[in-house]
Amino acid sequence: MVAVRAIDPAAHPDFAGEVSGIDLTRPLTAEEVAAVAAGMDRFAVLVFRDQRLTDEQQIAFSANFGPLEQATGDLAQGAARRLSMQVNDISNLDRENRVLARDDRRRLFGLGNRLWHSDSSFKPTPAKYSALSARVIPGAGGNTEFADMRAAYDALDEATKAEIADLVCLHSQLFSRAAIGFDAFTEDERVRFAPVPQRLVRRHPVTGRRSLFLASHAGAIVGWPVPEARAFLRDLTEHATSRRFVHAHVWRMGDLVMWDNRVTMHRARPFDAREVRDMHRTTVADSAPTLEQAA
Ligand code: OGA
Ligand code: MN
Repeated sequence: MVAVRAIDPAAHPDFAGEVSGIDLTRPLTAEEVAAVAAGMDRFAVLVFRDQRLTDEQQIAFSANFGPLEQATGDLAQGAARRLSMQVNDISNLDRENRVLARDDRRRLFGLGNRLWHSDSSFKPTPAKYSALSARVIPGAGGNTEFADMRAAYDALDEATKAEIADLVCLHSQLFSRAAIGFDAFTEDERVRFAPVPQRLVRRHPVTGRRSLFLASHAGAIVGWPVPEARAFLRDLTEHATSRRFVHAHVWRMGDLVMWDNRVTMHRARPFDAREVRDMHRTTVADSAPTLEQAA
């Protein structure tokens, strides 16, 4: 029997749940899929412990919730790529499973994950769910933090809610990487990572709850001067990521954490760059660009 309980019921009764009574290595029943989907609608982040998954099992599990994204947001590595295109490589390893050098371009690009973001908000149709599987974790550090964009929206004053109701932001990995001083993009990457428009306020299709759709990828607001937009988005992000909206996940080997990118942001926390951290992510695409979804 699948059961879901709040991990920190006092601080977050409806954010971040732990699921028990399910084995993700096996095909799920329709009842199990429905229970997980209901858990996602309520908690937005779900933790599954002790799930030693292969990539094939992780892909099969994720595909229960919609079509999977291809990992086109990663740097294109051609034959040097370590994992299949259905799996985002969230590790610090090369194809021979050697730890990347501190100044390796792939590592520096990946450090963008330390900024608050929502996965694939830089794609025309962004991500719905991400599922991140911990294969090898470092001895210390390397937590992942999640922020509840529904609670952050609810806590805004009415004037701000009115001001942002119809705003459209432009998202690109060029913006998020520029924020940490990474600008070593090729011409091809600049074209591939061109900005895309996304609504700033979204409505969850099942619960009807509104939420902020923010990410460090957001670098402009349509119709606004850029410095004003950046300062405004920075203030909103500071509000939305205050500690009262945040749950920190401390990884154990075999954890799978799934989150709803439509209503959360997340970020990686630092760890010793000489240690191995091997995480595999599958990503379920949303149904349409946010501008085509009901506001
Ligand atoms: C991701 C991501 C954070 C982490 O997998 O999309 O941002 O802690 N991961 O690795
Ligand atoms: Mn991410």
